[in-house]
Amino acid sequence: MSQSTCKTAILVSGSGSNLQSFIDKCATGEIDLQLCVVFSNKPGAFGLERARKAGIPTECLEHGDYPDRESFDRGVATVLDRYDPDLIVLAGFMRILSPWFVKHYEGRVLNIHPALLPAYPGLDTHQRVLDAGEKWHGSTVHFVTEELDGGPRILQGRLAVNAGESAGTLCDRVQAIEHQIYPEAANWFGQGRLEFRDGNAWLDGEPLSDPVVSEYP
Ligand code: GAR
Repeated sequence: MSQSTCKTAILVSGSGSNLQSFIDKCATGEIDLQLCVVFSNKPGAFGLERARKAGIPTECLEHGDYPDRESFDRGVATVLDRYDPDLIVLAGFMRILSPWFVKHYEGRVLNIHPALLPAYPGLDTHQRVLDAGEKWHGSTVHFVTEELDGGPRILQGRLAVNAGESAGTLCDRVQAIEHQIYPEAANWFGQGRLEFRDGNAWLDGEPLSDPVVSEYP
């Protein structure tokens, strides 16, 4: 197979299990993206280790070294732009992005959020879902806009919450879904099937008023 032309930068702050799913699916040919760089704001992020093991270039800048959010983001973009990325994949990148960064990469940044957005933006989603007695939970891939966890939704993986389930098992089940839906949605972008246009997500030439939903056991 010829190498993908979609140069993809993946940004991580932690374990990088989502990054690993991209690495594995690129290796098997299940998806066709060129993982050009993995960036972290945390030098100890295990995601950097996963990238090194896979032979992907790594970069790290620490936000504490910058006076404010935008100057850090400008530093990040300077580093990323050396790799000329077509797509930026936030994979557990636990930083709020400045409007400048969002504009710089407008329509080319994806995020995955562990909830069925617009429900449960923000942190600690699994426990909040349990506390509220929700029947359904899952994860959402969306385009990034200035609104935190608020950009156009693309693909959701949904599961039924089990009676008596803990936040830990719920998190594991949701992450297993993420490892399927995130590479899939990013691959749509790489194939030119997915676009950000007029503030909406478009798939196969049609605007997505609602995300595509896949159900999982
Ligand atoms: C993922 O579950 C992702 O949905 C979540 O962080 C985890 C990162 O895991 N992202 C957010 O909460 C963003 N608001 P990973 O480092 O193992 O991929």
